[in-house]
Amino acid sequence: MKKPVRIAVTGATGQIGYALLFRIASGDMLGKDTPVILQLLDLPQSQTAAQGVMMELQDCAFPLLVDMFATHDPEVAFKDADIAILVGARPRSKGMERSDLLQANAEIFAAQGAALNKVASRNVKVLVVGNPANTNAYIAMKSAPDLPAKNFTALMRLDQNRALSQLAEKTGKPVSKIKKLCIWGNHSPTMYTDYRFATVENENVAEIINDQDWYINEYLPKVGKRGSAIIEARGLSSAASAANAIIDQIHDWVIGSDDEWVTMGVPSDGSYGIPEGIVFGFPMTCKNGEYTIIKDLPIDEFSQERINQTLAELKEEKAEISSLL
Ligand code: NAI
Repeated sequence: MKKPVRIAVTGATGQIGYALLFRIASGDMLGKDTPVILQLLDLPQSQTAAQGVMMELQDCAFPLLVDMFATHDPEVAFKDADIAILVGARPRSKGMERSDLLQANAEIFAAQGAALNKVASRNVKVLVVGNPANTNAYIAMKSAPDLPAKNFTALMRLDQNRALSQLAEKTGKPVSKIKKLCIWGNHSPTMYTDYRFATVENENVAEIINDQDWYINEYLPKVGKRGSAIIEARGLSSAASAANAIIDQIHDWVIGSDDEWVTMGVPSDGSYGIPEGIVFGFPMTCKNGEYTIIKDLPIDEFSQERINQTLAELKEEKAEISSLL
């Protein structure tokens, strides 16, 4: 049997946590041959709920779940973690300004980055989900100077999956046939869904659809504002689809994307003029536990404008939290 993988999950008793943990333990994320140890972090007041979640995990009798524990101490939760999924974050409360939310979360992710730096595996792969995910990932990365910066990523896969499904619906083709769809930038309505390179059965998707008005005025806003549409319809933010995207993103990062393009928010290496270190969604492929940004794609005027817009938002967020770093 393989060595168990230690997976820390924060916000473990929240909605996403509840949709995520059972899928990790069942082997959906790392495969049916990889045992896992779940290290759950949540606030002190959520520890009883965490015991309840663990009772249910136990009642599933998952063969791959070899151990688990819950704690409110990040240094306990992150001890020797191979993978850390940072879901727990401060939600926006009534009357809270965006900048207050940024500050409140910056404190959480600075503390968690420092704890990862101190106790996690030196190769820990970190996926930040709690919003604002890209900036929180940046803060955690900056707070963990002894860990490889490239291992701090933000969840952008939900945006990719949403964008794919909408294209499948429009073209009438199965999701699995659509390749090379790119999402650039921030996990926010400013992100840029770029379908210029997308293909379906080797034909160019943009040419098949041939409707730029639909693309600009329907598709882009629909994908960008999907999160709000779900809150409006469900009364709660996306949880099962977010958990599914976490499973997809970590699966591909660890196991590989089979040469398919996927999107993750990663610290920029300067590609496409994005300043180094900013956690930005890029198209990439993954192999042997490493990701490689797809380089040298042509960027036309419209794309550059959209990339500039989402970058400007990330720069603003970074400026707002810079005093904490
Ligand atoms: P939730 O409110 O149901 O759960 C959050 C959990 O985090 C709670 O159990 C809470 O006690 C815990 N928590 C809060 N502060 C913590 C801390 N300092 N340490 C450990 N745990 C802490 O929220 P939900 O629906 O699970 O969403 C979590 C986050 O994920 C939110 O920030 C949400 O905006 C974000 N999100 C991000 C998506 C993405 O694509 N990047 C998609 C959907 C949600």
